[in-house]
Amino acid sequence: MAGDFRLFIKDILTIKAPKKSPLALRMIVLTFAMLCGIYICSICLKQISSRTNIGFLNVQVLQRPCEPHIIEPWEKLYVHYPLPQTFSRAECRCHPVRYFAILSTQRSGSGWFETLLNSHMNISSNGEIFSVKVRRSNISTIVETLDKVYNLDWLTSASKNECTAAVGLKWMLNQGLMQHHEEIVKYFNTKGVSAIFLFRRNLLRRMISILANSYDQDAKLLNGTHKSHVHSPHEAEILARYKPTINTTMLIPNLRQVEEMTAKALENFKSTRHITLYYEDIIKNQTKLIEVQDFLKVPRMDLKSRQVKIHKGSLSQQVENWDDIQKALSGTLYESFLHADYRM
Ligand SMILES: *[C@@H]1O[C@H](CO)[C@@H](O)[C@H](O)[C@H]1NC(C)=O
Ligand SMILES: *[C@@H]1O[C@H](CO)[C@@H](O)[C@H](O)[C@H]1NC(C)=O
Ligand SMILES: *[C@@H]1O[C@H](CO)[C@@H](O)[C@H](O)[C@H]1NC(C)=O
Ligand SMILES: *[C@@H]1O[C@H](CO)[C@@H](O)[C@H](O)[C@H]1NC(C)=O
Ligand SMILES: *[C@@H]1O[C@H](CO)[C@@H](O)[C@H](O)[C@H]1NC(C)=O
Repeated sequence: MAGDFRLFIKDILTIKAPKKSPLALRMIVLTFAMLCGIYICSICLKQISSRTNIGFLNVQVLQRPCEPHIIEPWEKLYVHYPLPQTFSRAECRCHPVRYFAILSTQRSGSGWFETLLNSHMNISSNGEIFSVKVRRSNISTIVETLDKVYNLDWLTSASKNECTAAVGLKWMLNQGLMQHHEEIVKYFNTKGVSAIFLFRRNLLRRMISILANSYDQDAKLLNGTHKSHVHSPHEAEILARYKPTINTTMLIPNLRQVEEMTAKALENFKSTRHITLYYEDIIKNQTKLIEVQDFLKVPRMDLKSRQVKIHKGSLSQQVENWDDIQKALSGTLYESFLHADYRM
């Protein structure tokens, strides 16, 4: 090819003979110009493509930490710009992300609360990750799991796209949280994780919900499948047909135990940035959900859940031995649990 080319040039240079027709000469010059053009073009293209490659690399290497949005100095700890390994945050790379954990107890409305949060387009709450025992075997596995969640690399159906602005999980007090509270508080306070406490005021209603739910684990009232949460009034009605009997001997000690556990959790985690919510308050007044969104610093939205409450209405209709329960609690600190505290 190069040889051809040289011959070609030689040809042109030696074309002096006026005998050759001007047309042929023009054709040769034209062809030569074309070849030159193609050659130059190909070199140019090569350079352009290699330059863009280099440019791309530069962008990767020089990718600077995002300029913080205008925030108060105390907030700095709570604002993050994660670089997930599993995907690119693309256009939201420089949108801040906040970390949270919903700290709760079973049957306190946290499942419902979490579906509400996940209906927000910028919130990803990844469920009860620590219900799996190996993840909470020791503080190293806990930290490893949390790191993955907060780096947006924990992929669940709740994971949003690159524009997640608040990421977290649901964590029950008995899932290693109280056991390792010192290290976890330290993690929260160094990584800037905010805690959302969610408890239930009426612990008697909670107890009924626990008993009914554990009964259904064996009975499987809904066509042979056990469900802890339902999405239709029909299913809710079937589950609510079962009325547990509460052993009144253990009733007061049980209520006290739960009360003490929640008080202890609040005490242990009091140094973290936190908000305390009660299930009943959210049901009564949905403006509580605005408070939560403000706490997480996400844009305010209307939050929705498809879950249907299982036990509604009067407590006396929900247990088998109402009279015994009334007798046991009357005149005690827990008497108020007997009275209806909200309407649905
Ligand atoms: C929320 O998500 C939307 C859509 O993905 C995105 O356009 C918006 O920037 C996000 N907001 C925040 C505060 O990250
Ligand atoms: C923590 O638990 C994991 C899984 O059970 C185990 O592989 C690891 O050795 C444990 N680490 C420590 C420090 O005990
Ligand atoms: C159980 O299955 C039957 C037949 O498939 C259906 O009609 C009924 O609605 C189901 N009941 C529940 C509670 O899912
Ligand atoms: C109630 O609980 C106590 C203590 O655990 C037990 O001794 C008693 O038999 C229980 N009563 C019933 C009716 O199950
Ligand atoms: C709902 O709660 C907000 C504050 O969270 C309060 O300002 C408002 O008055 C409450 N509304 C009702 C109907 O209780």
